Amino acid sequence: MQKAWFYKEYGPKEVLQLGDCPIPIPQANELLVRVRAAALNPIDFKRRQRPIFPSDFPVVPGCDMAGIVVAKGSNVIKFDIGDEVYGNIQDFNAKGKLKQLGTLAEFIVIEETLVATKPKNLSFEEAASLPLAVQTAIQGFKTADFKEGGTVFIVGGGGGVGTLVIQLAKALFGASFVVATTSTPKVEFVKMLGADDVVDYTKTKYEQVEDKFDFLYDTIGDCKNSSVVAKEGAPIVEITWPPSHPRAVYSSLTVSGEELERLRPCLESGKLKPVIDPTGPYNFEDVIEAFAYLETGRARGKVVISGTLDQHYTTNSV
Ligand SMILES: NC(=O)c1ccc[n+]([C@@H]2O[C@H](COP(=O)([O-])OP(=O)(O)OC[C@H]3O[C@@H](n4cnc5c(N)ncnc54)[C@H](OP(=O)(O)O)[C@@H]3O)[C@@H](O)[C@H]2O)c1
Repeated sequence: MQKAWFYKEYGPKEVLQLGDCPIPIPQANELLVRVRAAALNPIDFKRRQRPIFPSDFPVVPGCDMAGIVVAKGSNVIKFDIGDEVYGNIQDFNAKGKLKQLGTLAEFIVIEETLVATKPKNLSFEEAASLPLAVQTAIQGFKTADFKEGGTVFIVGGGGGVGTLVIQLAKALFGASFVVATTSTPKVEFVKMLGADDVVDYTKTKYEQVEDKFDFLYDTIGDCKNSSVVAKEGAPIVEITWPPSHPRAVYSSLTVSGEELERLRPCLESGKLKPVIDPTGPYNFEDVIEAFAYLETGRARGKVVISGTLDQHYTTNSV
């Protein structure tokens, strides 16, 4: 058995329990990974609060992880036992159900196509902070068919996705000018991530922004107001459902290990840096506290959990 966080009914964070769960057995194309760190995303608490996807209880929440391969199925070719990997395990079967239990556990199974080798310069916590948010951030640029040299206006530059959108705008997509919104305490932080200008939304309305932009990337679902900063005909992307403006196109992440592999040069060169909220990393035992913080909507980058339970495991156990 292993320790995992789970819930048996929908509800507030108090439905979460820490208890014993069986260690999953990897199928032919899957890895068994000892989780060393995990990250929380808003989907984890939205899914706990109400039935967004069909789920069988108990549900173990968590999509993101970084860890060490401890066993593998017979068809796995890219990874070996002992490899350090990271990925987003949010993958659905034909019935729309998540295939796997979540990452707030000591062990998870994951298809090898969903993970990538952890860049050597990143800690497990840094690597775990990336997959879901960075896959979302990248997909938004693809949905917009963003062209190098264009200008970008990012609504919500301080959050888990926004902090990566700012960095990727320059590092991967060649944006010429990047502006992001945030509240007063995060203005300097958002500038340090590479924004050329920062709009403090507590002081400045979108109508007061002088420029018009080639791409509006709204991470908080405020397009009914923010759309005024987009040039006529410019793409407007939202990542919250449903879109809040007739011109806004909803963009959803693509879960892929290859996408993470392609990011490796950017990560190893330091052009793209994981951003871990300074209240963390939280201990595995403090997951409820970590959720309480994320659910305030005020996170600064990613809320990360360290897998610190000391359980000994050998590959003979599966
Ligand atoms: N479609 C997809 O595939 C996909 C994938 C990932 C996430 N999402 C969704 O996208 C949303 C953002 O995700 P996330 O992980 O970035 O969430 P998050 O980390 O919880 O975002 C928190 C950030 O939002 C900022 N914020 C809140 N109100 C704001 C406002 N009025 N103007 C500017 N910034 C504001 C906060 O900054 P301040 O404290 O400065 O206000 C905070 O830094 C969530 O709803 C999530 O469910 C969708």
